[in-house]
Amino acid sequence: SRLVAYGIDDEDLLAGLTGDLAVVERAILDAVRSADPLAADAGSHLVRAGGKRTRPLLCLLASRLGEPSPLVTDAAVVVELTHLATLYHDDVIDSATQRRGVPTAQEVWGNTVAILTGDLLFARASTIGAGLGPEAVHIQATTFERLVLGEMRETVGPAPGQDPVEHYIGVLSDKTGSLIATSARFGGMFSGADGQTLQVLVDYGEKVGVAFQLADDVLDLVGDHADSGKTPGTDLREHVPTMPVLLLRRALAAGTAPEGSAELLELLDADLSDDARLAEAVALLRAHPVTAEARAVALRWAADAVAALEPLPDLPATRALAAVAEALADRSR
Ligand code: FPP
Ligand code: MG
Ligand code: MG
Repeated sequence: SRLVAYGIDDEDLLAGLTGDLAVVERAILDAVRSADPLAADAGSHLVRAGGKRTRPLLCLLASRLGEPSPLVTDAAVVVELTHLATLYHDDVIDSATQRRGVPTAQEVWGNTVAILTGDLLFARASTIGAGLGPEAVHIQATTFERLVLGEMRETVGPAPGQDPVEHYIGVLSDKTGSLIATSARFGGMFSGADGQTLQVLVDYGEKVGVAFQLADDVLDLVGDHADSGKTPGTDLREHVPTMPVLLLRRALAAGTAPEGSAELLELLDADLSDDARLAEAVALLRAHPVTAEARAVALRWAADAVAALEPLPDLPATRALAAVAEALADRSR
């Protein structure tokens, strides 16, 4: 199973998590039901397409540090629905044609329905979140704001004089770290964790989020379409900044880039709507040292996430959180 691939090897924990995830899966499918046929179809589109359920997993895992309550399931559903909502919007923003091996919602139904479906899922997340109490609603709202601001700052780019790599890490913290941190935090909150544990979980989650998204940047180059279900080079085609490209720019500016780097950057900055040109750009960047460097940066963030767990007791759940952090930074899908 995926949990074993993540390096979770404690038998009791594996059995418990497998059961919990199945419950969460049914609850997610329930949460996206609708009497309206289009809303039902579009709203369940990405749920049906699969997905790793990383955020529910982290929520459930964190809850196993304490005494989980039934609210943990609802919290896991809230974070996954929020994530799914952002994906509908993100795919419109990025003009992505495929996700999880299926056409994106706007390919099937057009931009308007895709955007509204994201809104619908966010509404459902809010309804379920209301049952978690005002503190959870508040956390959910501030997380939502960080997701939006992260996405906005990604679009605008670095402020004048700001280091682009630093700006980028800030974007990743906001657009991915925030929700992953909230996932782990909710797991703690609804299983009686103390303040220090909650802080550890937030810190861990933020770092896992950055590592996860950096791994995603590398996957855009080295990913196998059959594994990732995404079209390789989508980020490059849309000229979405990613860590390998930022590192290439930085090396060129510092005069430390290997031969051929300037030509590669020229190609990357050019129109990549042509499939052959895009494939060439992907192949060249993949072979360039900056891709290995970006991968190393991802692994470093994962190592920092693991280090953040240090104050926690040495429980199977703690070890599993560490294993998942490392696996997510070093994944093939
Ligand atoms: C994926 O990044 C996008 C995100 C992690 C965040 C997107 C956030 C929004 C669209 C704003 C918030 C919206 C709502 C409804 C809460 P990516 O494009 O780098 O990754 P990808 O390869 O998976 O597309
Ligand atoms: Mg995208
Ligand atoms: Mg995006």
